[in-house]
Amino acid sequence: TPRIFSGIKPTGHLTLGNYLGAVRQWVETDQHRADALFCVVDLHALTVDHDPARVRRLSRQAATLLLAAGLRPELCTLFVQSHVDEHTRLAYLMECTATDGEMRRMIQYKEKAARERATGGSVRLSLLTYPVLMAADILAYRADEVPVGDDQAQHVELTRDLAERFNQRYGHTFTIPRAVLPAAAARVMDLQDPTAKMGKSHAETSGIVYLLDEPDSVRRKIMRAVTDSGSKVAHDRDEQPGVTNLLEILGACTSRKPVELAEQYSSYGALKKDTAEAVLEVLRPVRERHAELCADPGYVDGVLRAGAQRARGLARPTVDAAYRAIGLLPPA
Ligand code: TYM
Repeated sequence: TPRIFSGIKPTGHLTLGNYLGAVRQWVETDQHRADALFCVVDLHALTVDHDPARVRRLSRQAATLLLAAGLRPELCTLFVQSHVDEHTRLAYLMECTATDGEMRRMIQYKEKAARERATGGSVRLSLLTYPVLMAADILAYRADEVPVGDDQAQHVELTRDLAERFNQRYGHTFTIPRAVLPAAAARVMDLQDPTAKMGKSHAETSGIVYLLDEPDSVRRKIMRAVTDSGSKVAHDRDEQPGVTNLLEILGACTSRKPVELAEQYSSYGALKKDTAEAVLEVLRPVRERHAELCADPGYVDGVLRAGAQRARGLARPTVDAAYRAIGLLPPA
């Protein structure tokens, strides 16, 4: 069976983009067909201005939501990144494998750094080195596959390069992983700005559907989604980004092809209404299970404790092997 690793960053409340782009695949397919590890990557949440209490709360909430969405601890391993030291141990070796040029070329770094600087903020060094920690996350488990949304594909490509370079220089140590993107909704766009990704850490929230939004709020956000000039319902990312985003979301929620759906609608209003109802249908059971799990925090703690223990056992030998391969003297 293949080994799968993926992660989610607790920098904000989970969004419909996270769910359709990643989490749903983890739940519906990955945990059943593979040895799958899913990680709340809290260290990655420290790369931008953060509030300690909020990160702690969001980490717990993310874990709870992943269970609510349907991850089953008897089928997969769910844990918190900072509970397993191997991630940071290996990240340093990845810093010694990657170049600064590679880091500076990352689209996500360029965008986030530009945003920080534009608002007069400074850029944490960890924002630049973010991809080496992500590479360490994946390589420590010798993962074969990394199910992610489209925005993470470049980071997984870099991970492959680093693994190949390390193996070539120091002997075969790591499995070369590959990104696996969902068939639909690999990039859910912001409802108010359909040329930008729906992102959980954005400040303006009217275009973002959160998994825990109240149903009325979900309806309102979708009914007010920006559509395009003209009134034709067409699947065309360049000419009709707003409508196309709705078609992608509706398609992902109803397991239908966005292109075929386009032919069935003649008005934006009907498309929005059906999209809102389809999204609510998908979110309802998640919200319900989340409320149940919140009443039982001991259960979530137990899952995370067992998950970290299993993860440590898997990562430890690989990271130890990497330490030896790169030339570090093993402790006597
Ligand atoms: P993060 O926390 O931003 O997102 C978690 C997952 O959700 C996907 N995603 C989306 N998919 C479609 N449309 C969107 N609008 C959308 N927004 C987010 C992301 O592609 C991702 O799969 N760097 C990663 C976390 C990470 C990781 C890893 C992932 C750290 N280490 C190792 C895989 C393997 C991130 O920031 O994801």
